[in-house]
Amino acid sequence: MLPTTNHNPAFNLTRASHVSLSVTDLERSRDFYRDVAGLVVTRETDNAIYLRGLEEASHHSLVLELAKEAKALYIGLRVRTDDDITAAEKFFKENNIEHRRVEKDYQGPTLQFRDPVGTWMELTSSMDVVDRKMQQFNEFVAGAPQRLDHYQVVTYDVQTATDFWTGLGMRMSEYTAKDGTDELWGTWMEVKGNTHDLVFTNGRGPRLHHFAYAVPDGASLIHAADVAGALGFGDEIDRGPGRHGISNALFLYLRDPDQHRIELFNTHYQFIDLETPPIRWDVSNPRRAQLWGMPASRRWFFEASEFPGEEVHEPLLQANPDTLEDYLGIH
Ligand SMILES: [Fe+2]
Repeated sequence: MLPTTNHNPAFNLTRASHVSLSVTDLERSRDFYRDVAGLVVTRETDNAIYLRGLEEASHHSLVLELAKEAKALYIGLRVRTDDDITAAEKFFKENNIEHRRVEKDYQGPTLQFRDPVGTWMELTSSMDVVDRKMQQFNEFVAGAPQRLDHYQVVTYDVQTATDFWTGLGMRMSEYTAKDGTDELWGTWMEVKGNTHDLVFTNGRGPRLHHFAYAVPDGASLIHAADVAGALGFGDEIDRGPGRHGISNALFLYLRDPDQHRIELFNTHYQFIDLETPPIRWDVSNPRRAQLWGMPASRRWFFEASEFPGEEVHEPLLQANPDTLEDYLGIH
């Protein structure tokens, strides 16, 4: 069933903004995100490292926290003002949504909550401001990621996730549905004016499939792949380069030393005008996944980062994706 966006939501979301991951070796993960992906290190402490994209003026868009187990801790969204945090708290209380206020270094008022399919989220209304490095071209390395753009979450119930988030003002730009029906298999939802901030796809979940940074151009993806190969991470490219049908982006996916997945991509098209309908893709149409390039590997389809303490459920819809291994006849 297609969702309806609430254009007067209880509070105002503005964009995907920051993600926290637990990692088992801080230095090893820092080296990966700095040297292989190309992010900027804003600050290092004994138990956390804060990174950002080159054009970002906010203190961090990726936080690595040292822990015994690698998990996706939170995915972050910004809200417009401090009052939106207060309004969100009231909304979650009234709707029995698990939530808590937290104090976070370098962030303004911050509220964490669990969405109805078990995705752990963090809202904040501000962050410490730092220098943009978008014209420090001498510091552009690897993919030269400019800014965090979106998340993809694997969920056992795409419909419930989509109804919740469109109820908070997100708008669906593209979706996959079972052939000939509106049974939702994947939904790409946005709040910032391009095709997505938050994606839910059908599968064992909740798990964070990837977070994505926009790079300057397609050539940056090839350079990132070359750098990954040069630094011994060539086997950690688990998909791409290629071009998605959905959202029309060139892409490259990499696994970090704990197997968290980062996507580098060359940005999306605008999706702002309300009369524009979402683009529908039959789930059987392989062009939804790639217009050209090889199908995704099994590990891309089936591996993702769990949230701590959150039970992973089997999906309500049973999928059997065509993988690279099927394509190549490898069993
Ligand atoms: Fe993505």
